Amino acid sequence: MGSKLEPYLAEVARLRIEVFRAWPYLYAGTLDYEAEYLKTYLNSPESLTVLVRDGAEVVGASTGLPLDHETEPFTRPFGQGGHCPADFFYFGESVLLPAYRGRGLGSRFFQEREAHARRLGRFRQTCFAAVERPPEHPLRPADYLPLNAFWERRGYRRQPDLAMELTWQDVDQPRETSKRLVFWLKPL
Ligand SMILES: CC(C)(COP(=O)(O)OP(=O)(O)OC[C@H]1O[C@@H](n2cnc3c(N)ncnc32)[C@H](O)[C@@H]1OP(=O)(O)O)[C@@H](O)C(=O)NCCC(=O)NCCS
Repeated sequence: MGSKLEPYLAEVARLRIEVFRAWPYLYAGTLDYEAEYLKTYLNSPESLTVLVRDGAEVVGASTGLPLDHETEPFTRPFGQGGHCPADFFYFGESVLLPAYRGRGLGSRFFQEREAHARRLGRFRQTCFAAVERPPEHPLRPADYLPLNAFWERRGYRRQPDLAMELTWQDVDQPRETSKRLVFWLKPL
């Protein structure tokens, strides 16, 4: 997709900012941060963005790209862990407005991205990274249902030794802080 994402950039950025304000991301997003983040996808001719539209409105989006088209913080743990980043297709995010959840679109995001990775023909595994917060964090909702079981049902396995640090500003913090994200993998 690469530059074909351009007309939808503002809408994908808006969705990410809206959906990722919630636990466990707590992302106080800005359009500047989004522009920098999404540039990687624009610059990769083999990236994919799956869009869900209700009429003209984009209500969901999911992205992916070859891991070795990602920036250094994403690829470094793979190299350090003895993996070859070129073997992996990386899934960026899945975001759906709450009213559109529970209809199978989250599963469809996985199917579409895995099919894209398979079509490209040179990857051994698909992967994504999930932020991990301390369970006693004050903003954790009491009724929060983690997505771990959903990911495991899709065939993904958490890799506790494969993790990266990313920084962004949390909604309750005055400046950016570092977060730990753990990778999940599935053979393609
Ligand atoms: C992750 C997300 C895209 C999933 O979307 P979705 O369309 O609701 O997913 P699906 O409808 O395919 O269902 C997901 C699973 O949750 C279950 N589920 C659906 N609605 C549910 C509900 N109201 N309560 C509990 N579980 C529910 C489904 O049974 C399904 O499980 P299974 O297919 O393994 O049995 C969506 O929840 C979302 O945008 N979350 C916020 C952003 C996020 O956390 N993204 C992931 C990391 S980037």
